[in-house]
Amino acid sequence: MHRKFFKVIGFTVLLIALFVYTGFLYENHIMDSHSHHHDHSDHYHEHSHSEKTLLPQKLLFPSPDPDRVILNLTENPETSIAVNWRTDTTVLSGTIEWSVATAGPEFLNSVQKVNAVRERLKVVRPEEPTVISNYFSGKIEGLNPGEKYVYRVGSAIAWSEWYQIQMPDASKQKLSFIYFGDAQNDLKSMWSRVIREAYKTLPKVDFMLHAGDLINRHDRDVEWGEWFYAGNFIHATVPSVMTPGNHEYGKGVILSPQWRPQFNLPLNGPKGLEETCYVVDYSNLKVISLDAEQIDESPMYLEKQKQWLDSVLSNNPKKWTAITFHYPVFSTKPNRDNENLRNHFKPLFDKHKVDIVLQGHDHAYGRGIVSNVPTGKNLKDDSSGTMYVVSVSGPKMYDVSNDPWMQRKARSTQLFQIISIEGDKMSYEAFTAHGELYDAFDLLKSSRKVNKLVNRIPPTKERL
Ligand SMILES: [Fe+2]
Repeated sequence: MHRKFFKVIGFTVLLIALFVYTGFLYENHIMDSHSHHHDHSDHYHEHSHSEKTLLPQKLLFPSPDPDRVILNLTENPETSIAVNWRTDTTVLSGTIEWSVATAGPEFLNSVQKVNAVRERLKVVRPEEPTVISNYFSGKIEGLNPGEKYVYRVGSAIAWSEWYQIQMPDASKQKLSFIYFGDAQNDLKSMWSRVIREAYKTLPKVDFMLHAGDLINRHDRDVEWGEWFYAGNFIHATVPSVMTPGNHEYGKGVILSPQWRPQFNLPLNGPKGLEETCYVVDYSNLKVISLDAEQIDESPMYLEKQKQWLDSVLSNNPKKWTAITFHYPVFSTKPNRDNENLRNHFKPLFDKHKVDIVLQGHDHAYGRGIVSNVPTGKNLKDDSSGTMYVVSVSGPKMYDVSNDPWMQRKARSTQLFQIISIEGDKMSYEAFTAHGELYDAFDLLKSSRKVNKLVNRIPPTKERL
């Protein structure tokens, strides 16, 4: 009798365990392979075990005090800047106060105000607390190129500190920006040191560029909270542009619900791809973001972006052009190949002689100029001279392949890159999270119209 009873209990426990495990597998499957068209294989083990520990309340829940303050580049980045922040729902209005920066507190005597637009966002996820926030977004306009300003955000209830910002001076024909590959995982625990090292090394850059997969799960609010925590005041003092990766999209190709409320990116791309596909003219550089997930998932948005890009580049008076999107035209990960993306877009990059393409997704570093002539090994044969870069800033790592297109590569290395432009020269440097120079090159504009590549690879041992 007893034996039979324990047998039944044992069998029931086994059945439940199997059921729970199957559910777990399914959950992970839908989280990481929502796209049928693309390899999203994802075997990363989060070091923070964040789902099993206490959710960091301060990173997750808004309060009346503004948090997640961030600057974005606008369409007119020399004279205006976009500002976004978050509060709880008790705060019904938001104001940006700003002034020309002064040596002492006297700027307080000439403060101007801009009203922000409020947007309520409710984020519901299974087994996580619901987060309801008010997001505010506004633009400070009519600023003087080259001038230093201060601003703060908030309302009568609570204000942020005064942040100091430097407007670019286009007449100097000089600019620099930091480019980050995927941050994605363990943002507070392990990506934070990368953005902080980048800021410590390069505090005077004009802006930061994120090549997608800023977070791991498109709607998980605590991950956005960690992303903001990692960068803290850097996000509020150095403007950003970002392109979405596959992890900013959920099942059914749904963009992260936080993306548009928390960022304020240009709306000048194809209809339906607002704030994911757009262009910014910054001094003598044109920066273009393409929405790679929509290229991968939607033949309509692929076609729309192709036509839009061709028209943008057909009328491009800027000396330099940088394009960012998440999926690599040439992969660094073994057995990955985005043939569809390459077949549709590389001909446009070639046609318009795009200077540099900044990508992510493969969680290994690689860069190179790829010849158009399949048999050609000499760079002189290349008719476009486009430099392709894949990088990663977060701790999730994949193997790096032996494909010959890479002139410099790295495995298991967190990196940040600085790209500087001065007249006819673009200088590129990649640093490891440790702060060591890992890769460098210059691109020189030449009368032949194909950039001259000058490799400046440091003696730092290749990490493979
Ligand atoms: Fe990705």
